[in-house]
Amino acid sequence: MNFNEAKDKLSKYGQEHVLKYYNELSQEQQEMLTTQIAGTDFSVTANVTGGIKETPRGKITPIKAMTLPEIEANREEFTKTGIETIRAGKAGAVLLAGGMGTRLGSANPKGMYDIGITKPVYIFQRIIRNLLDVVDMAGTWIHLFIMTSDKNHDTTVAFFKENNYFTYNPGYIHFFKQDMAPAATYQGKVYMEDKYKIATSPNGNGGWYSSMKNAGITDFIHKTGIEWLNVFAVDNVLQRIADPCFIGAVIHKNCSAGAKVVRKADPDEKVGVMCLEDGRPSIVEYYEQTEQLRNTKDENGEPAYNFGVILNYLFKESDLEEICNNELPLHIVEKKIPYMDENGAFINPEEPNGYKFETLILDMIHMLDTCLPFEVERNKEFAPIKNKTGIDSIESARKLLEENGITL
Ligand code: UTP
Repeated sequence: MNFNEAKDKLSKYGQEHVLKYYNELSQEQQEMLTTQIAGTDFSVTANVTGGIKETPRGKITPIKAMTLPEIEANREEFTKTGIETIRAGKAGAVLLAGGMGTRLGSANPKGMYDIGITKPVYIFQRIIRNLLDVVDMAGTWIHLFIMTSDKNHDTTVAFFKENNYFTYNPGYIHFFKQDMAPAATYQGKVYMEDKYKIATSPNGNGGWYSSMKNAGITDFIHKTGIEWLNVFAVDNVLQRIADPCFIGAVIHKNCSAGAKVVRKADPDEKVGVMCLEDGRPSIVEYYEQTEQLRNTKDENGEPAYNFGVILNYLFKESDLEEICNNELPLHIVEKKIPYMDENGAFINPEEPNGYKFETLILDMIHMLDTCLPFEVERNKEFAPIKNKTGIDSIESARKLLEENGITL
């Protein structure tokens, strides 16, 4: 993209300030900037200038989950189907590790965090160990796709290499970078990080499939014959990945997707719950859960919206192509955005100073016809690390790991 083309594109979105220092830049920097302009979707900023519009929700009704007793009664059969699927090379796993982990506050990618006490135990190491349990059980390697971002890609790749991929087969690990979105002021003007660089951040965990596609990974998936993708978050250190019983259950129920869910610890727990929205599977985020929704009971007198998602989903890959072509709702999130001020000084703000634009994986569920909520025991499968201390922290995860017999 040349200067004039860049200028035209920017003026369409009222972002001409991006080129303010163009004439002072070296040729290399000028090229970096125009390349970034060419690859950036500025249309997201229009969502700010036009005011944030919330999409109204449809009619919310309860969804039936597959609960522990039903799973136990069929465990053998589901597991057999899952193992057969894995052995046939039809299941892959996608690790979402593109996030910034701001709440944990470490300069390194979250997966590099050492949660050990007497020895180093890295989050990535725990995840690979959990996947190796299934590899050992099935007697076959499982392709693992790791999503990073521009901000943490090189560090993440180097870390896996240094640690010999935690004994995983490197031929089955594939890194890909997530697409980035510009960050903007409250008035919708994109922030600059430097005179030749627009401030960007990863475009949210809903960006995983389109980013995979843009990185050419879906071609590999089609060629290899992978049909199911188990997508999971980096920060749950008890995460069961490519769980054969889960895969088997979703296949037996003939669903497009499955979501691992836990019973809510209490009505106010901050987790999104599964439901039907206008008859289609959906998730109500914790901040959208009304008093009435929290108090609704099912025919057995149990809370009707009681199954929280833990960011562990199984998707039938062929059904995702369509979602990718439809637009996912855009979430506008207020965040602290490091930026360059009018005098060219770099500022690391203490308070939120603008918006980031994200799509969320949970919105993908609503676009599918069917999704099986699959209950798991929270103390065995849910130890998220979001904060250093308190709820969902290093402390709480360590306790749960020890409860599960893992030496730290
Ligand atoms: P969170 O929403 O908890 O975000 O991510 P985070 O970046 O880990 O932490 P905070 O909010 O900044 O403190 C849930 C999962 O989604 C991934 C994260 O890496 C994590 O596995 N994620 C999130 C991405 O891969 N890309 C994104 O753009 C955002």
